[in-house]
Amino acid sequence: VIRDQAQEIIASIAEEIGQAVKQSETADKPLVLGLATGSTPVPLYRELIRRHREEGLSFKNVVTFNLDEYYPLSPDHPESYHRFMRDQLFDHIDIPKDQINIPSGTAKREEVHEACRAYEEKIASYGGLDIQILGIGRTGHIGFNEPGSGPRSKTRLVTLDRLTKVDAARDFHGEHNVPRYAVTMGVGTIMAAKRVILMAWGRSKATVLRDAIEAEPVESLPASFLQAHDNVCFFLDQAAASEL
Ligand code: GLP
Repeated sequence: VIRDQAQEIIASIAEEIGQAVKQSETADKPLVLGLATGSTPVPLYRELIRRHREEGLSFKNVVTFNLDEYYPLSPDHPESYHRFMRDQLFDHIDIPKDQINIPSGTAKREEVHEACRAYEEKIASYGGLDIQILGIGRTGHIGFNEPGSGPRSKTRLVTLDRLTKVDAARDFHGEHNVPRYAVTMGVGTIMAAKRVILMAWGRSKATVLRDAIEAEPVESLPASFLQAHDNVCFFLDQAAASEL
């Protein structure tokens, strides 16, 4: 889906998610949402908050799993994704705290593997992700699945790509402050979601989107594996779609 302005797209994604959330209000099984961070989903979260406040959209029967977290990083660090999600969404809606899941950035090194396994198990215990929201990094990463991530990879500790650290440098006041690692859901975890919504805005994502959509799926561009998903939609503004 390509539109002139991101705002036009946000309305239709918010409508789709809003419908699913609304259905969950009376369902016997919670809606399982996979959530993303970065600047891309911020307008979507704003619109969901608006619908909660003005239209009474309730998130009481929604369970969320975030894609990733920097490692090591405390949940109270201003740049942690725990903090980001509280600020941008969770503090403004009625989701119960115990229904929010974000990979830990503080597990001891020797406990990370077990924490990742438990994260996968918890997603599975809810019957998997119903809708996964994604942005895309300039390296072609989804979550923090950097180049080299396999199509069946699961939640794990990864080393951040140099370009990802350059892009994060401004938020962390310098590249040397950006954590070297992250814990991320795998490409395989994302591929198992029933529905995948990828959003991208702006010229800086145009090249990587062209390759993700039009080139052969390869490990050097993990987002390209989404081509094999049977219910994925890329929502792009004109600038992001300019090289297709
Ligand atoms: C980070 C996140 C990704 C996100 C990417 C793009 O690397 N881990 O999930 O898609 O940033 O960020 P932005 O949306 O700010 O361009």
